[in-house]
Amino acid sequence: MSKTSIKTGGLAGVTAGETAISTVGKEGVGLTYRGYAIEELAARASFEDVLYLLLEGRLPSHKERTDYERRLAEAAPLPASLASVLERIPASTHPMDVLRTGLSMLGCLEPEKDFSQLNACAIRSVALAPAILLYWFRFCRDGKRLDTTKGAGRVARHFLTLLHDRAPTSEHERALDVSLILYAEHEFNASTFAARVCAGTLSDYHSCITAAVGTLRGPLHGGANEAAMELIERFATPEEAARGVRSALDRKEKIMGFGHRVYRDHDPRHAVIKEWSRRLAAEVGDRRLFPVSEAIEQVMWEEKRLFPNLDFYSATAYHFLGIPTPLFTPIFVCSRLSGWSAHVSEQRANNRLIRPDAAYVGPDPRPFPEETER
Ligand SMILES: CC(C)(COP(=O)(O)OP(=O)(O)OC[C@H]1O[C@@H](n2cnc3c(N)ncnc32)[C@H](O)[C@@H]1OP(=O)(O)O)[C@@H](O)C(=O)NCCC(=O)NCCS
Repeated sequence: MSKTSIKTGGLAGVTAGETAISTVGKEGVGLTYRGYAIEELAARASFEDVLYLLLEGRLPSHKERTDYERRLAEAAPLPASLASVLERIPASTHPMDVLRTGLSMLGCLEPEKDFSQLNACAIRSVALAPAILLYWFRFCRDGKRLDTTKGAGRVARHFLTLLHDRAPTSEHERALDVSLILYAEHEFNASTFAARVCAGTLSDYHSCITAAVGTLRGPLHGGANEAAMELIERFATPEEAARGVRSALDRKEKIMGFGHRVYRDHDPRHAVIKEWSRRLAAEVGDRRLFPVSEAIEQVMWEEKRLFPNLDFYSATAYHFLGIPTPLFTPIFVCSRLSGWSAHVSEQRANNRLIRPDAAYVGPDPRPFPEETER
């Protein structure tokens, strides 16, 4: 480790390996998945196209995409023993813990027997993540045992159908689909790096993604979209929001959904999700949350030159889709499973154990004292 990286901390600016999967914030390139610009993917692809692109390395033909959708639909039934585990998880549990447990249980029931099964495990996990989450959620909230095959085959439609008990409008399905595309992959972010560290020990697929879910859970990473919603909902008017955020900044509080480790002046995913949030706000007749969000955005730029990241307007977009706030970060999992899986595959293909050095700052060597002298 170089002296610079120790001084700045958090491995900021350290190139920790190679990837052919995505570029984040590269000068003149922006965000690409396997060379395709995020703006084009969000405008012209579906999440299932992106899943295929990340797992197989190229965009699918029409037939290849419909085959993938069929495989996702076939993978949607929840094993009975997994359903019974979910029924035993307390209603007070955070849904991210439910997903972590559910995906780990899946690894007990259907372990990856050898590395050639990675893509099959990935498809099963992507198909089951909404099923695990919403089976538990609806069982706790409504006492209902969901048939998790309803709406399966396309992740956005599957998620919204299981949540609302009816097929979504095409506008709502597309809004969530675009959000899944935006969340699918982001190079060596913390959760992906955790998955790669795990893969580097030649561990199994489910251990890698369970490590990633646990890492994504924190408010400095995936949890930011939930924290952003809680902040936005606190304010009745844009003026109140501007005052509230200014005083939070005076108290040196962090405003979730702003800033980024790699992007310096904007997050390329922001414009896409903000536009969707605006459209959905108009559709539901919102006159409060979207204007409040814009007021917060303005204050953050004026006071700190900080810009919204993907999480900030994802919060209101999800809210307008009728998604309860505790399910926001789990949606990130439903999507990012695709990127994590691609990275596990890439790590295995050219593996070396990931084991950095530490700069030791502890006591000098000293004699071991008798118990009476401690
Ligand atoms: C994403 C994030 C973790 C990047 O962190 P980082 O590269 O380690 O940068 P730092 O946390 O050291 O921030 C650098 C400075 O900007 C400030 N800052 C960064 N993000 C901030 C935010 N969201 N609100 C207020 N101040 C912020 C820090 O307080 C720090 O100020 P200082 O130098 O006066 O101490 C950070 O911007 C953050 O915590 N954002 C909020 C959480 C979030 O939205 N996460 C999702 C990321 S996609």
